[in-house]
Amino acid sequence: MTGGGDHWLLPDEPFESWAAYLAHHGSSAALDSRATSPATIIEELERSGLRGRGGAGFPTGLKWRTIANHACPVRYVVCNAAEGEPGTFKDRFLLRRNPYACLEGIAIAARVVGAKKAFIGVKESFKPELERLRAAILEMVAAGVFEDIELELVEGPGEYLFGEEKALLRFIEDGLPLPREAEAPPYELGLFGDQRSPNPALVNNVETFAHVASIVRAGGDSFRALGTHDTPGTVICTISGDVARPGVFEVEAGVPLSLLIDEQAGGVRGAPVKAVLAGISTRPIPADKLHTPVDFGSLALIGSGLGSAGFIVLDESRSMPRVAQTIARFLYVESCNQCTACKHGLGAASKAIDGMLAAGDRHPDDLERVVFGARSAPQGNRCYLPVQGSILLPALLARFRSEFEPLLRAPAADPERFPLPLLADFDEERRVFTYDDTTARKRPDWTYEPPLELVPSIPHSEPEGSVGVRLDPDVASALRERGSATGRQLDAIANEILREHLSSGKGR
Ligand SMILES: Cc1cc2nc3c(=O)[nH]c(=O)nc-3n(C[C@H](O)[C@H](O)[C@H](O)COP(=O)(O)O)c2cc1C
Ligand code: SF4
Repeated sequence: MTGGGDHWLLPDEPFESWAAYLAHHGSSAALDSRATSPATIIEELERSGLRGRGGAGFPTGLKWRTIANHACPVRYVVCNAAEGEPGTFKDRFLLRRNPYACLEGIAIAARVVGAKKAFIGVKESFKPELERLRAAILEMVAAGVFEDIELELVEGPGEYLFGEEKALLRFIEDGLPLPREAEAPPYELGLFGDQRSPNPALVNNVETFAHVASIVRAGGDSFRALGTHDTPGTVICTISGDVARPGVFEVEAGVPLSLLIDEQAGGVRGAPVKAVLAGISTRPIPADKLHTPVDFGSLALIGSGLGSAGFIVLDESRSMPRVAQTIARFLYVESCNQCTACKHGLGAASKAIDGMLAAGDRHPDDLERVVFGARSAPQGNRCYLPVQGSILLPALLARFRSEFEPLLRAPAADPERFPLPLLADFDEERRVFTYDDTTARKRPDWTYEPPLELVPSIPHSEPEGSVGVRLDPDVASALRERGSATGRQLDAIANEILREHLSSGKGR
């Protein structure tokens, strides 16, 4: 462990067994914590200042206290291991090396908030993590850590929204990764609840749960001794993009971003840094702000954010219109079309950027269309996804206006496309991330273009109109129509189609 303290989560070599984890830490935090009252554990968590590592940085102790104090006696615990934010791989890296800390945190949470059942939501494509989790759960069940707690692994689809907490709960209930109404946050309406028994759910990220184990073991003050006043502890960061050695690094919160890029990730590959994206939920970090400390508050002060600490480094050679195009399309495609303005606004922004970059298809007011489309997306929104577009897209246009304006006057020089770093796997030896190549083929109605190798000379039997997904052509076009209709909720028929489509894993 870097620094040798109790609070570092990533061992130098993966813990191969529960015994190896115990040998390192001396004992089980979950088993030891049974001698401590739930109220004391919540106090320690609050004292630690731990903030959620899933993106929003919400104070973890406060979240636990809210659920522990809820009037409804039925509660659930849910671990969010969906990890769908572009540029982020830290949860999978942690689960591969040390699934035990996270599982200890889940067991502690269940006892503290009085939950009898806990779920872990993992994408079905995360095979090594699922395997690692299953083996670790078996060991810890045998050791008595989950006595009186039922634990269920829920394998979900690749949709970005699967990781949104209200969509994750809905998926656990009925197999659809679609956010519920904003008025029903998980701490009010959890799982399998109704008005009389809302069954609040504690939803935390993998890394958040993992930090709990060491806080329970060593105390809140000890955790606070690391990091900054704003963001105590360590942060597990992913660095991808134009750097020499991409990877996942655990650092003390508050180290300058430039240190992470230069010392941990080996610096930029060629040209100097143009900007760094902290995922796709906040404004870009400009090159002249790389000295900013990596914590929630400092990055917010420069108009950006920490998010889930997934930093995508863009060097000078990157075309920012291409970057904006890729992000706008991703948000448009991943929007689920339940709210009137979201899909429509993001679609308008995405199409305007496409227009600017396509010869002969541009309008003089394309820049305004992008900004208006993006800013109009969050209205009556159930989730934060359209807010991300409304913040990031106008910010890219404003900061890199000199790259967008020439596109309105003359045909583009067809700059290189920007592949979205939706990280599918990491080869530790070669220090290479592989990207999920299905995202570029995904259509706004959540069906898929055929993979390039499936447009072959070899004839195949899929009917016209359903290439890539084995949906009946009529059903596919019904779903597509729903996808583009604005202001209408996905109705029962479309839900049915979607459920079938997702549960069978087709189209991938
Ligand atoms: C579109 C969208 C996708 C999200 N994906 C994830 C995810 O993959 N993993 C995650 O932990 N949080 C994700 N979140 C944040 C969760 O909704 C939630 O805030 C988080 O799980 C809370 O855990 P924390 O308090 O430990 O941070 C996402 C949010 C949005 C709006
Ligand atoms: S805001 Fe957008 S992504 Fe979120 S639930 Fe509504 S339509 Fe779906």
